[in-house]
Amino acid sequence: MYKSSNTVNIIVADYDNMRLMDTFSKLQNSNPLVRVVAICQNGQDLINRASTMRDVDAILMDFNLIDLTAIEVAKELKDSSPTTEIFCISDSMSAEFIFSAKSKGVAEIFKREGIVYREVADKIVDSIIAKRLEYEKLANEHGAIEKGTRNTKIVKEYITKTISQSVILTYNMKGGVGKSTVAANLAVAIKLSPYYSGKRVVLVDFDCGGANVSTICNIPDIDTVSRNLAAWENIDLNETSPEEVDSLLIPGPHGIMVAAAPINMGIAAKIGYDIADNILKILKKYFDVIIIDGAPNLSPVMDAALEQATKILLIANPEGQAVKQLGRIVHTLNDITANGERDLIHIINKMFVVLNYAQKPSEWDLKPNEVARTIGRPLLREIPNDDVVKKALHGNSAKQAVELEPESEFAIAIKKLANDLCGAYPEGVKQEDVKKSKKKVKENSDKKKLFGLFG
Ligand SMILES: Nc1ncnc2c1ncn2[C@@H]1O[C@H](COP(=O)(O)OP(=O)(O)OP(=O)(O)O)[C@@H](O)[C@H]1O
Ligand SMILES: [Mg+2]
Repeated sequence: MYKSSNTVNIIVADYDNMRLMDTFSKLQNSNPLVRVVAICQNGQDLINRASTMRDVDAILMDFNLIDLTAIEVAKELKDSSPTTEIFCISDSMSAEFIFSAKSKGVAEIFKREGIVYREVADKIVDSIIAKRLEYEKLANEHGAIEKGTRNTKIVKEYITKTISQSVILTYNMKGGVGKSTVAANLAVAIKLSPYYSGKRVVLVDFDCGGANVSTICNIPDIDTVSRNLAAWENIDLNETSPEEVDSLLIPGPHGIMVAAAPINMGIAAKIGYDIADNILKILKKYFDVIIIDGAPNLSPVMDAALEQATKILLIANPEGQAVKQLGRIVHTLNDITANGERDLIHIINKMFVVLNYAQKPSEWDLKPNEVARTIGRPLLREIPNDDVVKKALHGNSAKQAVELEPESEFAIAIKKLANDLCGAYPEGVKQEDVKKSKKKVKENSDKKKLFGLFG
């Protein structure tokens, strides 16, 4: 799930401009994995860039910049960018100096006289790759995340940095199965994850004319008049700016952005494959997570979504006829592929069943394994029927169910789904944990009360 990008991204810093350019070009050409991502002439600029740019693996700096030394830079970045390693070049190399610098967070010191940049680059690359493996191991051992604050911070930053893009579609040509409910709650659950809080999440309403997302997110009709999918018609993929894209979106719950569907049926009818495809390609440029709420039909807009999605959630209810109908779609895609008409295997492979109990369970319900078998794709998760969904929809909190009652069975299931899809909750989500920690807080406050009585 987590990609390890191969290049090693380095910022080079030196107060002497000529020397800075020389170090930059020699380092850049020394090892194919090295990518110099920025150059700086003073310490403050260096710190600003290292803590705000994505994926800065290392710094190679002259030990003494005009305003800061490498030790001070290491100290500053310890919290704001703990995975960035600091390497420096120095004229003086006494044993005492090396010891002092290394004990204060500098990874390695190279002597200026006779420096060989190829060796410097190899050393930095080896060190960063070894560190990445170490973080990856820590990140995989879920327990490590809870141990020690420094580990937590480093692992969190590592996971946050290496998250890959997700485009998730909720799909079923049948209405009322929970496509919009799952899509909206999934978007919020992902944004609520500590690993995704700084990531850009957009919820896209592809149910043109239905405008489910606007309803669920309490977006007034007036806001969608100028800012809806039809307004993207003349936007050029290669000439967009983030500001322009944001101006076509509407701020939704908990910091997610919403691409609203037009409500006017005449306008909705104009949206076909090309516009839908263009919208998704543009959003892919600016967002880490794109959740598409599908329409209850088979249409060119849905075809574009099926093509662009990285995961397709077949939202099913445990009802015989509807499950058979969904199964027919998967079988048709298989048949088209088998006949050699078109190769659709890449679409079939992205499909997973999410069994959502939009109605209260009944004795006539199919069993989860029957649902998955009939559809012909694996079951990813079951989402229980929960009154919190209605409470969120009809109450006036303007919150989605996952946020309204984070400990509800529904919220836990959606968060687990968020983890299945994009690793949003690697520590796991267990209702017992929530209950346990609540109990602990209560015990502690009881203890306090006792001590208050006797103390
Ligand atoms: N897990 C659940 N628990 C309780 N109610 C649910 C659940 N999932 C969905 N519902 C309710 O079922 C109804 C249909 O859900 P939703 O609108 O999300 O379906 P949909 O597939 O998007 O429908 P459409 O195709 O018409 O857009 C809504 O009233 C919703 O509140
Ligand atoms: Mg819907």
